[in-house]
Amino acid sequence: MSQPVTLITGASEGIGAELARVFAAKGHEVVLVARRGELLTTLADEIAAAGGKTPMVVALDLVAAGAVESLAATLAGAGRTVQYLVNNAGFGLIGRVYELDQAEQLAMVDLNIRALTALTLRFLPEIRKASGGVLNVASVASFMPGPGFAVYYATKAYVRSFSEALAEELKPAGVKVSCLCPGPVETGFQSRAGMSFTGAMAAMKPALVPAAEVARQGYDGLMAGRRIVIPGLVNKALVWSARMTPRAVLLPVLATAQQKKRP
Ligand SMILES: NC(=O)c1ccc[n+]([C@@H]2O[C@H](COP(=O)([O-])OP(=O)(O)OC[C@H]3O[C@@H](n4cnc5c(N)ncnc54)[C@H](OP(=O)(O)O)[C@@H]3O)[C@@H](O)[C@H]2O)c1
Repeated sequence: MSQPVTLITGASEGIGAELARVFAAKGHEVVLVARRGELLTTLADEIAAAGGKTPMVVALDLVAAGAVESLAATLAGAGRTVQYLVNNAGFGLIGRVYELDQAEQLAMVDLNIRALTALTLRFLPEIRKASGGVLNVASVASFMPGPGFAVYYATKAYVRSFSEALAEELKPAGVKVSCLCPGPVETGFQSRAGMSFTGAMAAMKPALVPAAEVARQGYDGLMAGRRIVIPGLVNKALVWSARMTPRAVLLPVLATAQQKKRP
């Protein structure tokens, strides 16, 4: 008998760690994936100490060649099948495309798009069999182009488009697919992206939804079968106004906003 699990990528910190806490608290056996194994082990110990099922930890670089197959083999070897997949690992890079390092930008595409897609395709047969679900973490950035943050915004547009289509395809099979679209959340994301939480970003702090609340809404949204989950009223309003604003007006406004987030 194989044991159904919830596979969570990018679980070593930030939103992914909070998602792991929420799924574990709801009784799921979670498998934690990220590169920094020591952080995953600390989180696994915390979850077990809090009474959750002891998580399995897989320290893995998801953009390395053969990563998804190696993860699948590890899970199969441990008698685990994926019922829920949480594609959360991702990063951004702020700056104009011609200023940023090309290899780093392509690595972002590899993680945010390629690894997410590869994991989904690889584990979908198991997820379908278990009538489980997929929670993909995009961003409010998925609803608009992002001059000054262009590749990141475009990767998230892919994630949302893919998730919405998948939700429709999998509805008859009883598989839930949700796309979690947070606004800015204070995590390791900002320092990795080259942003600072000073100046314009600091002024936004009171309106930010904490990572734990983002994770809770993501979990509830998935279980309720909601295609899109946007935590926070301010973020919902932002998405609505971006949809209503002509691109010729929106693009220069967004370019200025990104410029202000740079240190
Ligand atoms: N924070 C925000 O403002 C915000 C807003 C909207 C959407 N999001 C999205 O939310 C998701 C989580 O971001 P976060 O804010 O929680 O950022 P974070 O704190 O920087 O966490 C990112 C996670 O991804 C993992 N990761 C990065 N590269 C990886 C790789 N090559 N292989 C495996 N794991 C990798 C990191 O772990 P290791 O370094 O240990 O590998 C870490 O656990 C991302 O998809 C991000 O785009 C964030």
